[in-house]
Amino acid sequence: MNRTESEYIFALCNPGSEKALKLEAESMALGWRLSYQRRGFVTFKADAPFALASLTAELACARRLCLSLGKSPTREEALRRVQAASLIHHARYFERKMQGLPCAASPKPGELIGTVVELGPTEFWAGLHRHAPFLSPDPAGDSGTLIPSESPSRAWLKLEEALRFFALPLTPADIVVELGCAPGGVVLALLQRGISSIGIDPAKMAEIVLASLISNRSDILPNKPWFFHCRKPAALASKRDLGQGVSWFMSDMNQSPEVVLKECARFCKMAPSIRGVLITLKLTDLLQIKDKALWFASLSEMGFSTIRLQQFSVHHKEFSLLAIDRSVSK
Ligand SMILES: C[S@@+](CC[C@H](N)C(=O)[O-])C[C@H]1O[C@@H](n2cnc3c(N)ncnc32)[C@H](O)[C@@H]1O
Repeated sequence: MNRTESEYIFALCNPGSEKALKLEAESMALGWRLSYQRRGFVTFKADAPFALASLTAELACARRLCLSLGKSPTREEALRRVQAASLIHHARYFERKMQGLPCAASPKPGELIGTVVELGPTEFWAGLHRHAPFLSPDPAGDSGTLIPSESPSRAWLKLEEALRFFALPLTPADIVVELGCAPGGVVLALLQRGISSIGIDPAKMAEIVLASLISNRSDILPNKPWFFHCRKPAALASKRDLGQGVSWFMSDMNQSPEVVLKECARFCKMAPSIRGVLITLKLTDLLQIKDKALWFASLSEMGFSTIRLQQFSVHHKEFSLLAIDRSVSK
């Protein structure tokens, strides 16, 4: 067996997501069997060996999927196992988190990456994967980004992680509508990137974002990002509140996936200019992952052909749902 094949793969996930990961793999009928498990680390076996080139399963609960090259008692030995890789990522289970250690280099598409995972003083696992679109560029899918003190909420971090993990092409030419925008972490992150937004939420916004508030679209100044607050529940927002040119739909409402996706469909109908969707799905139980196919089906009905679901290192009982490449029927 050469080093691009192995009987095992391993997945790195958020500690606490192992059961959901197994359920997800099972519901995708991948034919994988659980082999070994630690907090944040799950290995699977299948009837036939895994090949590096076929490591394409899109598992929302896995922040990283690697062909497993086995366990070593020392880091040096684990590093020898991944010496064919041109870039090495280091990960460790530390302070009850599966952490990625900072890596200065950014992977190129197709680049072979070796991952060494430290699970204990004498337990080091070696794995390989190739970098590809929609895979995090960071070790263990953990960018290590820190939330700035001025952010009114952790939502700032979730948006920044999504933009980095998925390499999203948002630019100042975009206008975002965000359902559940208060107190304004996402709006702040967008403003800092020069992106304007319409926020829909009956709750109050933080002072820091109110500095960019406009009360009317005629108040927009050239080259200055703005924020318009529609202070009502999402279900009462209309086409009039949206105006022209909205290109992204985002939601961070603490509502069920069904409610959020229903609103998403309504907004996509009201604004055919929407070309991307980014939703933080808030679950009561991570095992709701079994409904993934239903969520994907409703986005595909809205015309989106590229859909991804991903749990980030900064998530708790949450997933980020992304949909792009929309075709709108006339
Ligand atoms: C987690 S907070 C959002 C954080 C926010 N995105 C940020 O960047 O700071 C959830 C928000 O959803 C709002 N929300 C819940 N149900 C809603 C609904 N039906 N319509 C609009 N907003 C709603 C709540 O008022 C609350 O402000």
